[in-house]
Amino acid sequence: PFGSGNVQETPAEDDNLIVVGVSQVGSESVWRTAHTQSVQDAFTRANGYLLIFDNARQKQANQIKAIRSFISQQVDYIVLSPIEETGWDTVLQEAKDAGIPVILMDRTVEVADDSLYTTWVGSDFIREGQDAGYWLEDYLKEQGRDEDEINIVVLQGTKGATATIGRTRGFNETAKIQHNWNILEQVDGEFTTAKGKEEMARLLEKYEDIDVVVSQNDDMTFGALEAIHAAGKTTGVNGDITVISFDAVDAGVELVRNGEINIDVQCNPDQGKYVEQVIKDMEAGKEVEKAYYVPERVYTQENAGEDEDAAEGISG
Ligand code: AHR
Repeated sequence: PFGSGNVQETPAEDDNLIVVGVSQVGSESVWRTAHTQSVQDAFTRANGYLLIFDNARQKQANQIKAIRSFISQQVDYIVLSPIEETGWDTVLQEAKDAGIPVILMDRTVEVADDSLYTTWVGSDFIREGQDAGYWLEDYLKEQGRDEDEINIVVLQGTKGATATIGRTRGFNETAKIQHNWNILEQVDGEFTTAKGKEEMARLLEKYEDIDVVVSQNDDMTFGALEAIHAAGKTTGVNGDITVISFDAVDAGVELVRNGEINIDVQCNPDQGKYVEQVIKDMEAGKEVEKAYYVPERVYTQENAGEDEDAAEGISG
């Protein structure tokens, strides 16, 4: 089912199934693999669905092609996890003209007419960025470093993606009121380990005194840690460089537990079941909200050993 241009034809004998065409961003991160899995777990034949899944491999053009293919196959629903926010008006208008509801998941879109999509299920990326900033403020206070000059570098995710825009905005909002925080550079790490490592190595050569790394996903963090260790520096609790990460995939939380990462702000990948619930509601003729936020938490040294959060429901 993976790979652009690999969209399956709808078999005629599946008339009773609800046909859902899903356009996924790609497979850039551990988080994305878990996200794809949650979609595949939710839209099973046993649950009454025929899933047509397309992996766009980080190219918006592939997503547009997949959506057009879903329209020509007359699917019942289109589920889109958009790579970037802009550039969707035309193809979403085509879906609307064909009478096919579009449900956004994970990231969102910026369109002139909001009626081009029915609803969105995803993370509050701005709050995630704010959580990182508020944590850093408290941490520096606890350490008695709240008057020191603090040099920060930021590894950003895919340009134009809601996750990048929101986390950057949220963190910068908290940073701009701190007179002693210097954001030295915000660089594009593309949400990948390889790019995170490359950019971190470059930053370490350029700046002697980096105090904090804000890495907008765990994969970039894994790469950054390699670069930092190769430069002979230590990270995390009692280390030379404080590390703030996002996603909280299992390997990320493990690094919080062992003290190499200070904090991991969760981005919940388990979104398939919520999207499926929205489709069920629509099938039952219920009104749906325009936006649903999935439950998320922050993993710190103090709480990383605790059980998963109790909050299970989405909030509209
Ligand atoms: O849009 C969610 C982001 O995309 C995740 O933080 C990142 O790991 C993924 O690639």
